[in-house]
Amino acid sequence: MRNLPRLFAAILVFLLLANAAFALSTKDKERVGAVLFRDKGCTYCHGASAQGTAKGPSLANIRKLLKAPQIVDQIENGGRKMPSFSDSLSRDEVDQLVHYLRAKHRPIPPPLVVAAPQSSAVSNPEQ
Ligand code: HEC
Repeated sequence: MRNLPRLFAAILVFLLLANAAFALSTKDKERVGAVLFRDKGCTYCHGASAQGTAKGPSLANIRKLLKAPQIVDQIENGGRKMPSFSDSLSRDEVDQLVHYLRAKHRPIPPPLVVAAPQSSAVSNPEQ
């Protein structure tokens, strides 16, 4: 059992490397957050580029107003008019949204791809 410490060390190194290989970079988190902001309904109240609407305030300067834990709290617990998102977002997703909102240069999410109806594939049983 003299090799046990070495075995643990090897496992630890493996886990660290695996974690580094699979972890998202800051830029990736910002990009994923941009898509989540659009697809999880934030834009409904805060606007497509977080500029604000009648339903929710602008988040344009949020990186200067709130620290990351305060943004996490707002998203997970909601506010007076904002619903809680703790049931519909994972911790990672909340983290990605915070990265997006606190990014110096917010990325623009890729456009939604809407599949065109394939008219030739539609058969009419009446014919
Ligand atoms: C139904 C409308 C609505 C939706 C959907 C919504 N918000 Fe909000 N949000 C608000 C309102 C209203 C406020 C102002 C505080 C309050 O009443 O909760 C707010 C406040 C915030 C704040 C704090 C702003 C500040 O200046 O203190 C953040 C950050 C935020 N929202 C992020 C999000 C994110 C991220 C999402 C999507 C996961 C989201 N919101 C979805 C309505 C909404």
